[in-house]
Amino acid sequence: MIRLRFSPLVPVGARLLAAATAVSTGCAAADTPDAPRNLPKLVAEVCAGCHGPKLEGAAGPSLVDDTWKFGGDDARIAESIRRGHPAGGMPPFGGSLPEKDIRGLVVYLRELAGKAALHRTPPPRPNAETVTASRLHAYRIETAVADLQEPWSLAFLPDGRSLVTEKRGTLRIISGGVAGAPVAGTPEVDTDGQAGLFDVVPHPDYARNGWIYLVFADPQKNAEGRTVAMTAVVRGRIQDNTWADQAVIYRAPLETYRRAGGVHFGGRLTFDRAGFLFFSIGERGQQADAQNLALPNGKIHRLHDDGRVPADNPFVGKTGALPSIWSYGHRNPQGLRVDPASGWLWAHEHGPRGGDELNRIQAGRNYGWPVATFGINYDGTAITELTTRADLESPVTFWTPSIAPCGLSIYTGERFPKWKNNHFVSSLAAEELRRLKLKDGKVVEQEIIFKGLGRLRDVSTGPDGLLYVLLPDRVTRLVPAAR
Ligand code: HEC
Repeated sequence: MIRLRFSPLVPVGARLLAAATAVSTGCAAADTPDAPRNLPKLVAEVCAGCHGPKLEGAAGPSLVDDTWKFGGDDARIAESIRRGHPAGGMPPFGGSLPEKDIRGLVVYLRELAGKAALHRTPPPRPNAETVTASRLHAYRIETAVADLQEPWSLAFLPDGRSLVTEKRGTLRIISGGVAGAPVAGTPEVDTDGQAGLFDVVPHPDYARNGWIYLVFADPQKNAEGRTVAMTAVVRGRIQDNTWADQAVIYRAPLETYRRAGGVHFGGRLTFDRAGFLFFSIGERGQQADAQNLALPNGKIHRLHDDGRVPADNPFVGKTGALPSIWSYGHRNPQGLRVDPASGWLWAHEHGPRGGDELNRIQAGRNYGWPVATFGINYDGTAITELTTRADLESPVTFWTPSIAPCGLSIYTGERFPKWKNNHFVSSLAAEELRRLKLKDGKVVEQEIIFKGLGRLRDVSTGPDGLLYVLLPDRVTRLVPAAR
């Protein structure tokens, strides 16, 4: 056990107050609860003296090696900081540090630990020439379709062709490994900021009815003549490379549209085994809206394939609630797929700084944003002191540091037998393809399959059993290879 020669409480407390005041400089009001928090500075001034400049360990233990003597979940790390371990030389900070700063520190420790882990064991960055190893299967990566711009979604048709959307508003048919000219006449799309053309999904009975569903940022003019936008869903058919027979499946009331561009449109759509249609709308940057059942943003919705509201939706007949809502308390869900084996609906969503979530979605449940989250604000301030609450759904797992998940596939192919029924998550900021193995609804294994090939917007199991991943300028596929 490490014993420190000085009684740490007085000097640390004094240094801490100085640091807490120092970090709030640059703001008009000194040290208001929500003044930006310079977490690196706070750590440098208060923790680094004992834990080392990069918290890799000195007189105090390493805080970035993923081993925790007193428990490594957010609550236990916070408790270590709050109450200290005075017998071992760790002073308590609960008296001198507001709870919100303790939340910030936990997230910042995880960010540093995440960086350290990538440094210790760099994940594979595959290229076309070599075989890449992973825990269960070796693979080659090959280009399936070249010359695309920010492809967002890939869908396979029963006739061997496939469809791809690009963020800038184009839908293309892929045939024989070549993407055709944009399908003419698709809906006008807002493409500013995070807006764009999102998911493309064929009807489960596409072979008979030809319906194709599109989710997109729908630009409209409001009463003042300003262009506003909101996530919308249409279906249509493609005839002679032209969008035809369009029908609106979901369009929110115009008053819920917001300034064009901006953030958090969601934009995924999926069908369950019974043929119900689910789609996600992000909270559009309006955090509190996610808890307001009278508003469509920050929700996952459920409809019949033609847009009618199913009579057994959880909020049908409830005053002040939109009947299309299936679940709420979502920030920005950009992964939404049904596990073909269990029939369970899975979604992941972008957290703020930390706290990206994987959730099993169930009728009427509240997934907590922004009341509880494992993330914090980008400026280091806490959004809430709560990571969980009994009446809110906790994520099945969360990612801190954030990976910015976009795209989810539950692998159903035969070519990678050991990957069967695993979740694959693609991501924007972290540029990672991750594999998750779940058992009884819990994540029991997680692996970065590759990292560093650019922002990934979708991953999809092909009918050929290969795993398709959208890179910023192409569709690639993972092909099994001998090591
Ligand atoms: C005066 C020295 C000192 C300072 C300052 C200090 N720590 Fe510690 N810390 C320790 C020691 C020593 C331990 C190990 C205690 C033990 O093993 O009983 C420890 C343990 C911890 C643990 C538990 C680690 C585990 O394995 O479970 C956490 C978390 C932690 N410190 C975070 C912090 C943070 C965050 C700061 C800055 C706000 C900080 N510490 C400041 C000395 C310090």
